[in-house]
Amino acid sequence: MRKAFNLFGFLVISLAVNACSEYEILQSMKVPKYELAESSSESKGAKFCATCHKQIYDQWITKSSHAVSTKNKAFISFKNKVTGNYILNKLLVEEMCYACHGNKEVNEGVNCETCHGLVISGESIAVTHEKKYKPGRVLLKESKFCAKCHELQEAMTVYSDWQRSTAAKNSITCQKCHMIPREEQKSYHGFDTIVISKDIYRDDLAIDDIQIDYPELSLIVVNKMTGHAVPAGGPSRVLVLAVSLFDEQGTELYSVSESFAKKFKLMPIVGLMPYKLLENTQLQSEEIRQVKFTLPEFFKDKAKKAIITLKFYEMSGEHLGDIAQAYWESEPIVFKEVDL
Ligand code: HEC
Ligand code: HEC
Ligand code: HEC
Ligand code: HEC
Ligand code: HEC
Repeated sequence: MRKAFNLFGFLVISLAVNACSEYEILQSMKVPKYELAESSSESKGAKFCATCHKQIYDQWITKSSHAVSTKNKAFISFKNKVTGNYILNKLLVEEMCYACHGNKEVNEGVNCETCHGLVISGESIAVTHEKKYKPGRVLLKESKFCAKCHELQEAMTVYSDWQRSTAAKNSITCQKCHMIPREEQKSYHGFDTIVISKDIYRDDLAIDDIQIDYPELSLIVVNKMTGHAVPAGGPSRVLVLAVSLFDEQGTELYSVSESFAKKFKLMPIVGLMPYKLLENTQLQSEEIRQVKFTLPEFFKDKAKKAIITLKFYEMSGEHLGDIAQAYWESEPIVFKEVDL
């Protein structure tokens, strides 16, 4: 009896402690990772900065998803799914989303002032440059600056990946890869990714050592990227290795694929994490991964050619890696043709 009570007591206490610490963490996650305007009139908005920084503004508004991070369909639908229509959920969770995605009232996503800071109230823009933007550049050059929003427990681990990477050892920061100066030799504000430019990969990914001993096909996928895992951080991007078999006439007989991504399950209850990581098959930085497929015996004589590709897909936050749900796919990053 006493034992049972002790166990019960222990459970109650640990649940309470757990709930308290979860609550505290949740409260801390609701604190905006940027300087929050008291009212939207206190924020000048990106168009104001554009009067003098037109080129940077154009890169940001046309290329960077930072500019739409409070407006895009994926954000709104995922937010509604997580918060449901419950007022309590909205109070608990919604603020947390805006803490990284940008000021809700201003609704310009992650804009100039989110990263560089608000114009000092009652001061001119020239004084703000002198007192804030110029000294602010010291921190802006560090990877740590991006980590404020790009690292979130097991969901986004791009900064901790980077800390362990060869790039970090060589002082190659996030900014050095994602903001390479272009025309005017100013930091590029489109924040390159595969969606924006295929060139970001150059020769980073390869398929090698293809061996076919029917029915077994084996190969290696090589990730030479030195900065972080591929695909990076969050759940929305998936890298897919696909093998298709063709007959003499060029008709596709069969295809099979393997995806590299983090797979999440959305939790039905409101908690610290709205989702749970089920599996992580990302290619780690500088990883060489051996992959094997067993092809169907049935096509042994008919199949004359195999085409092997690596492509990126973009999906909403909850997909379990099912590429049929993708709303965007890249050109093949790697394309190999093999005679059988
Ligand atoms: C009246 C024109 C003007 C406006 C408006 C303006 N800037 Fe600038 N800004 C400049 C000039 C000129 C420079 C220095 C040359 C350069 O780097 O383009 C500068 C430089 C900067 C720098 C680099 C800091 C440094 O000195 O190394 C940052 C960051 C910056 N501006 C941010 C902003 C942001 C954010 C806004 C909007 C809130 C803004 N600026 C609005 C004219 C302006
Ligand atoms: C205030 C929070 C915040 C900061 C600081 C921040 N980001 Fe982001 N970033 C986001 C959010 C939110 C998204 C997702 C936007 C979306 O897809 O809706 C994002 C998306 C991105 C993407 C995908 C971009 C694209 O256009 O497809 C890249 C790359 C990126 N950020 C790089 C960086 C780098 C590099 C830094 C540091 C210089 C940085 N970010 C700083 C919040 C932030
Ligand atoms: C710690 C900061 C942070 C918090 C908190 C956060 N996000 Fe994000 N979110 C990001 C960043 C950074 C990205 C883009 C980078 C990536 O995917 O690796 C992103 C990407 C997304 C995407 C994918 C966007 C696209 O274009 O496909 C969705 C959807 C999203 N977030 C919704 C939410 C919702 C809803 C919440 C609240 C429950 C939330 N986020 C909370 C930082 C955050
Ligand atoms: C050595 C160069 C390099 C460094 C350093 C680097 N990246 Fe990347 N990053 C890339 C490449 C290449 C991609 C293209 C993959 C893609 O778009 O999914 C990428 C993709 C991304 C994406 C898009 C991921 C997605 O799946 O939606 C984000 C976000 C990102 N990086 C953030 C960061 C942050 C934050 C840092 C610093 C902590 C960083 N990167 C450091 C090269 C780099
Ligand atoms: C996601 C964060 C982020 C956003 C959004 C952002 N910036 Fe920046 N900005 C940076 C970083 C990081 C640097 C590079 C700092 C460095 O390397 O010195 C930078 C550099 C600059 C510079 C100096 C350019 C140079 O190379 O001399 C100016 C000017 C500037 N930003 C203006 C703007 C304006 C205007 C906007 C809005 C249209 C904006 N930024 C949006 C992060 C951001």
